[in-house]
Amino acid sequence: MIAMKPFSPNEIRILPSLLAVDFARLGEEARRALDAGADGLHADVMDGRFVPPITFGADVVGAVVRETGAWIDAHLMVEQPERQIDAFAAAGAKAITVHAEATAHLHRLLAQIRDAGCEAGVALNPATPVTEAVRYVLPLVDRVLIMTVNPGWGGQTFIPEGLDKVHKVARILRAADSRARLQVDGGVTAENAGDLVRHGADELVAGSAVYRGDVAGNLAAIRDAVNRARSV
Ligand code: DX5
Ligand code: ZN
Repeated sequence: MIAMKPFSPNEIRILPSLLAVDFARLGEEARRALDAGADGLHADVMDGRFVPPITFGADVVGAVVRETGAWIDAHLMVEQPERQIDAFAAAGAKAITVHAEATAHLHRLLAQIRDAGCEAGVALNPATPVTEAVRYVLPLVDRVLIMTVNPGWGGQTFIPEGLDKVHKVARILRAADSRARLQVDGGVTAENAGDLVRHGADELVAGSAVYRGDVAGNLAAIRDAVNRARSV
């Protein structure tokens, strides 16, 4: 079990996605990224309905928490997410993000996540307009997740319009004096990480860009790009 260092508010977090690992060696692969300096892990939960693939649920996330002690962020790409919140909280997920498109009752759902003791996040698909989706729920939001691919699969190409969306959300959060984190997920690489940070992202989820090849080298390249963007 790895003792996670506490987060400082201004740091840029890099969160490898467990979707990209060899599931037969899940614990080992999770640990490899943490040992290489990942700030936490991102768990992509898919139910075969909100998106076609089925990945894993709360029991598997709980196993990774027990094995690694990692800060884990559960990204629920599921229908009826309200049925899953208690299970993920009990499994030890520290943050739970639900899709605005998956519920008619986003306000209630975000409150449910916080009541369960987790950070509450709202995810927006590439085509979902940003302002209306977040404006009225902002006081309940600890994290906004901008999808920069269509959810369902790793290894897709970054949708460039996402940059503008990140910038827009960053402005909305700043204007509202919100302390919510701004997470970007999908097609994140060492090549676009700097741009994303410059546009206001402070959490980068990366699956294939971390796990394809040398995990430590890949993470270092993303971290370098982030640091370069912050030093200008
Ligand atoms: C897509 C998932 C992403 C995905 C990222 O539905 O939410 O987290 O795994 O994978 P890459 O970084 O390969 O695009
Ligand atoms: Zn995700």
